[in-house]
Amino acid sequence: MKVTLRIWRQEGPIDKGELKEYLVDDLTEDMSFLEALDHLNEQLVLKNEKVIAYEYDCREGICGQCGLFINGRAHGPHDHMTTCQLHMRSFADGDTITVEPWRAKAFPIVKDLIVDRSAFDRIIGQGAYISAKTGTAPEANSILISKEVSDKAMDAAACIGCGACVATCKNASAALFTSAKINHLNSLPQGKPESHHRALDMTKQMEKEGFGHCTFTGACEVECPEGISITNIAEMNARLIRAKVMN
Ligand code: SF4
Ligand code: FES
Repeated sequence: MKVTLRIWRQEGPIDKGELKEYLVDDLTEDMSFLEALDHLNEQLVLKNEKVIAYEYDCREGICGQCGLFINGRAHGPHDHMTTCQLHMRSFADGDTITVEPWRAKAFPIVKDLIVDRSAFDRIIGQGAYISAKTGTAPEANSILISKEVSDKAMDAAACIGCGACVATCKNASAALFTSAKINHLNSLPQGKPESHHRALDMTKQMEKEGFGHCTFTGACEVECPEGISITNIAEMNARLIRAKVMN
């Protein structure tokens, strides 16, 4: 299998950057998309050219590090799939595939396809934790949680922090990510003591980082590989109003 990869090359944060074309041969349809990029990098090394910088860790849809725009869609052509789960069989022999980094003011480009997503870490640092007493773990059934509540919390906890929601949103809003992190803990009894400060501080940090405002286009929900629902944003807004009234 042979494809032409049009890849965004940018030496550093302040460089202009451009799309460069590479003809990549000897691929198989069972290769993952990241393996195709690995293969291209091996060829570049042999030619003494600079390798393409891209990010990954788990390569199994868990860590959220591999996000790329592929032919204009976050994480490529399939719904509910991360870039590392995408395989070359999703493309035809001879295809031209355009690969770009996430583009958002709050995610500055570090190099080539790598962006700095530390803005997400700073939002998490403002409240995505609970305070618990140290010592032996409490008995598991001492705090009963209904299935409905635990399902809701776990659905929100599925967010892997990939940033596809921001990259897809025309406003570059981080509302889907932030709402998932807030609702995950605020839904559970363990998260209740800090629920107001969590909603206030995490949304404040989100605004400080330069993400845009949510206008409920729903694009984030469509492109989220974990299927995080946009209803989380409505719930976050309700929690925020409640926190403002109570504080
Ligand atoms: S909400 Fe979805 S798209 Fe956004 S960071 Fe979490 S997993 Fe990625
Ligand atoms: S490399 Fe971890 S989600 Fe893709």
